[in-house]
Amino acid sequence: MYLIGVIVVAAIAYFLYLELYGKRKGLPPGPTPWPIVGNILQLDLKHPEKSLVQWGKQYGPVFTIWMPAPFVIVNDYDLMKESFLKQGDIFAGRPEMFLLRELSKGNYGLVFARDELWREQRRFALHVLRDFGVGRNMLEPKILDQTRELISILHSTKGPTQLKPALTFAVGNVINTMVVGYAWKFGDQRMEEFKTTLEESHSVVTKPTMLLLELYPWIRFFEPPFNIGLKQLTLINRKFQSFFSEEIRQHKETLDESQPPRDYTDAYLIEMNKRIKAGNQGSFSERQLIFAMGDIWAAGMDTTVTTLRFAFLYLLNYPNVLKKMHEEMDEMVGRERDLSMNDQKILPYLCATIQEVQRLANILPINLQHTVTEDVIVGGYRIPRETIVVAQTPSIHLDEKLFPDPYTFSPERHIDANGHFVKSEHIIPFSIGKRVCMGESLARMELFLFLGSLIQHCDFRPADGKTPPPIEVVTGIIQSPAPYDCVIVPRT
Ligand code: HEM
Repeated sequence: MYLIGVIVVAAIAYFLYLELYGKRKGLPPGPTPWPIVGNILQLDLKHPEKSLVQWGKQYGPVFTIWMPAPFVIVNDYDLMKESFLKQGDIFAGRPEMFLLRELSKGNYGLVFARDELWREQRRFALHVLRDFGVGRNMLEPKILDQTRELISILHSTKGPTQLKPALTFAVGNVINTMVVGYAWKFGDQRMEEFKTTLEESHSVVTKPTMLLLELYPWIRFFEPPFNIGLKQLTLINRKFQSFFSEEIRQHKETLDESQPPRDYTDAYLIEMNKRIKAGNQGSFSERQLIFAMGDIWAAGMDTTVTTLRFAFLYLLNYPNVLKKMHEEMDEMVGRERDLSMNDQKILPYLCATIQEVQRLANILPINLQHTVTEDVIVGGYRIPRETIVVAQTPSIHLDEKLFPDPYTFSPERHIDANGHFVKSEHIIPFSIGKRVCMGESLARMELFLFLGSLIQHCDFRPADGKTPPPIEVVTGIIQSPAPYDCVIVPRT
């Protein structure tokens, strides 16, 4: 009995030693993790990005947090450039995640894809996005079609309204047009179902149990009685797969390989068939296409809608900024013609406002995780291969040395003495290095054309005419504004 007691106490002591000290050896220092949950409960759960700014002040440009797996946080711009940019290949890994393995049964998609499959598929996707005119402005007319729809929906609203459904519709239609070649009508049943499923998947993926599942996959056997979320996610994943499979089936029926591709799905099928004929299929498969379609949707929708919702939330709280945007728009463009990307040159205040929204909103409060593909030195510490590393861009955006009074919304900080817009190399909402957002050019077009056109044709007022909605957030992988209403007044 006595011996069993000694063994149990020694085992607990050893476990605590490993949890509190042993496992941290060699990695950069950071806040002491608690057993099992690491630092999760020490994070400001409303604003995780603020905790990381604070820890950066305490521990320096590189530190480790336990989520509960170790994340090496690179919190300094120069070090970020030195590592993620200059040693791009080494910092371009992604963690092998239990959840993704469970759902996709392999290495598929774009966002969490790894190794050679990711390289080949990213190259192809970027090439198609370029061909469809992201960066060459051929998507501009498609975005403007959605802008006109959006304005007419907003003009028809009466009284306090949420912007989210109309913005989701417009942004979703831009993605759908690009991926499968058609736009939905506002309120279309299939789009509503798709949106609901996408929202459900976000709310499950951001459950804290998902983090625990990564490190302790055995907890899945306790569902039920506990609601871990894996079962729900498996069902959601099936729904997405059947939606995309059906689109692929219809595309195959009508595909004419002698014609230019109508959309991403056509381009992919043409490339895949070409490779099959040449006996060089590589990583091209229908299953990969399904997961790539899902990733473009997942990565492109909530990010853009959330950024736009933050923009209007700030404008309701800073009516002087909204007034200046209206004045600039009226003076430089007027209300008769459509906005175009060329107008960026003549609308410095609009450009400055978008940059300031992206600086302050930090919609990914903890940037997406990478891994290092080989042992590497970061800030003087040897980081072993496969360790998770994070380019913590929000800490740069909120650095008071770069942006004095960082929590104040002020587009003026991006305007020089001659009234010109100053693009900041320190504002990097699309991340840095070889994994940089693949939709950056498309997103920049959407932010400029949607925000600019709405400023051109609408005024935005608080729901009760005087009290702006509080700037409150709902935090998850993506941090978004809490739901808010506003009144939209047509500018005629
Ligand atoms: C305002 C809008 C957007 C923001 C702020 C944003 C931001 C980001 C960020 C921070 C990452 C992670 C990069 C990293 O791992 O270091 C990312 C990745 C990605 N984004 Fe975006 N994004 C936006 C819109 C879009 C759109 C419209 C698309 C659609 C084409 C898209 C597609 C992707 C893809 C496919 C990846 C994965 C890249 C890879 O792992 O190689 N994003 N984005």
